[in-house]
Amino acid sequence: MSNQRIEEGRGLLRFLTCGSVDDGKSTLIGRLLHDSRLIAEDTLETLARDSRRHGTVGEEVDLALLVDGLEAERQQGITIDVAYRYFATQRRSFIVADTPGHEQYTRNMATGASNSDLAVILVDARKGIVTQTRRHATICSLLGIKHLVLAVNKIDLIEFDEAQFAKIVEDWNKFSADLHFSETQPIPVSARFGDNVTTSSARTPWYSGPTLAEYLESVDVDYGLRDKPFRFQVQWVNRPNLDFRGFSGTVASGQIALGDSLVVANSGRQSQVTRILGPDGDQPTASAGEAVTICLADELDLARGDMLVPPAARAEVADQLAVNLLWMDEEPLLPGRKYLARFGHAWVPVSVTSIKYRLDINTQQQTPTKKLALNEIAFCNLEISGRVAFDPYTENRATGAFIMVDRYTNRTAGAGMVSFALRRATHIHAEGFLVDKAARAALLNQQPQVIWFTGLSGSGKSSIAKLVEAALHRDGRLTYSLDGDNLRLGLNRDLGFTDQDRVENIRRVGEVAKLFLDAGAIVLCSFISPFRAERRMVREMMAPGEFIEIFVETPVEECIRRDPKGLYQKALDGKIPNFTGISSPYEEPEAAELVVSTAGRTPQESAAAVLDYLRLRLGG
Ligand code: ADX
Repeated sequence: MSNQRIEEGRGLLRFLTCGSVDDGKSTLIGRLLHDSRLIAEDTLETLARDSRRHGTVGEEVDLALLVDGLEAERQQGITIDVAYRYFATQRRSFIVADTPGHEQYTRNMATGASNSDLAVILVDARKGIVTQTRRHATICSLLGIKHLVLAVNKIDLIEFDEAQFAKIVEDWNKFSADLHFSETQPIPVSARFGDNVTTSSARTPWYSGPTLAEYLESVDVDYGLRDKPFRFQVQWVNRPNLDFRGFSGTVASGQIALGDSLVVANSGRQSQVTRILGPDGDQPTASAGEAVTICLADELDLARGDMLVPPAARAEVADQLAVNLLWMDEEPLLPGRKYLARFGHAWVPVSVTSIKYRLDINTQQQTPTKKLALNEIAFCNLEISGRVAFDPYTENRATGAFIMVDRYTNRTAGAGMVSFALRRATHIHAEGFLVDKAARAALLNQQPQVIWFTGLSGSGKSSIAKLVEAALHRDGRLTYSLDGDNLRLGLNRDLGFTDQDRVENIRRVGEVAKLFLDAGAIVLCSFISPFRAERRMVREMMAPGEFIEIFVETPVEECIRRDPKGLYQKALDGKIPNFTGISSPYEEPEAAELVVSTAGRTPQESAAAVLDYLRLRLGG
């Protein structure tokens, strides 16, 4: 299994197998490995050894070859259930990603698919195209796989019936017409008995196509990355000493040569390639797939995640994107919530501003939705804090894909494919005024501040805030109170209490609080604000120190006992759905500036505790 063999043959084919649990995936892979009398079926260690010998990334193992998209997950310590096997025949080397077939493992499948050139979709000849088949095919299509094998397995169990095979192929063709595959090869197989796996079966005389092994060995899956514009994302800035500064990474697509001009996609700054360093030292050119270090003629300020592109064929740069998003987390995606997105090596905060539609993977129908649950796929607008360089996914799989990560659990929560940039917001620029926050604060002789009370309904937030505000006012400070019930009578009249509405509620409150802060006021906000993510989002909208979070800590039993508005009783009777503490969660703050336990205290005593703290912070 030398690299030489890889080079002599048709090169490496990365494929994945997908099918339902009993379709016979493992049997098929086992059969394939066994019958091809493989030179070796090897583990990852061997591959690691090989790539080290190959030396593309120096001391580092070139796992990129194998598990590029997994790097981020690995850094976050996430296990994705994808088994990779490496094997080779005389003609070709293979990496096969085997993913669990069960429905909830869509994310494993997507991970496998994002690294694959081809997918073998297994169907049970007795059952034909089923929901699972459609789901897998849709994901493969979204992830840009162009070549498929439709392995109609257990053909022996339908007596090698040509008509039934033809019917399945017809069903497939009908279903897959809109999925933009360039080629599907249907093959009748019996994984159990080996028919058409590596040798043509005498029992399917009506089938004249290739065996599975023949097809995999010969299929041309060139996605043309070499011929696409040059794309290189800086993985790290290589600066061993003051005399050397190079940018290391893998060429995502295209090629470059010494002397070529390159620009930094985000800044447009330009320079020329002075050196290209590969595993064996200086080299004159580099092309897609090669891991190299590039040196430039000018000192450009480049960092990890920056993209180098040719001046005449630049990547797009935008802060609003239309994307297809596959959600892979148990926690649903909520529009307005902040997540982290990773475009190659660039990490940026993002949020979905709107979900255009959800795609029903079984019927391809588009349905409206307000959130995205596990395994669902939607077309959305994505807002990026900052700007990213990208290409539409259909043009470049390497630079058009991203993953989304939950900021609290660090789980990979979504996989996205960029469709196009939204230019809406690009010609809106903040207008600066002559009087600013500092000027107003000086006039008022106070330090503007957002004081955020969070806690259950009935915990005492508003009662305490009222007393605190009155005292601050007596101290001669300009204050303003924002309160859940009050805002919900006006600005937020259109919002209810679903998770997604609460996210939007707090987002708007944050914006309003920020305006009052800018006006110089001390803003007291009393909102249940049950989710950490949104409290953190509001905090991050303000400058450090401007946001003070106060957790009004009252056990739910005590709130039920107080029940000032009679709402808990109604909620317990099932008359109010999604009631915080009863049928909707409350996530306690982990690092509030102040925790006020109200049990056994009067609101006056709680307010006094808050005031002591505030007067210390705000000064005389
Ligand atoms: S938040 O969760 O979105 O932050 P907010 O603080 O604006 O909520 O509003 C909470 C107030 O709405 C409660 O004090 C209560 O009076 C009222 N309310 C009505 N229905 C609900 C509900 N299902 N859950 C919580 N509060 C509710």
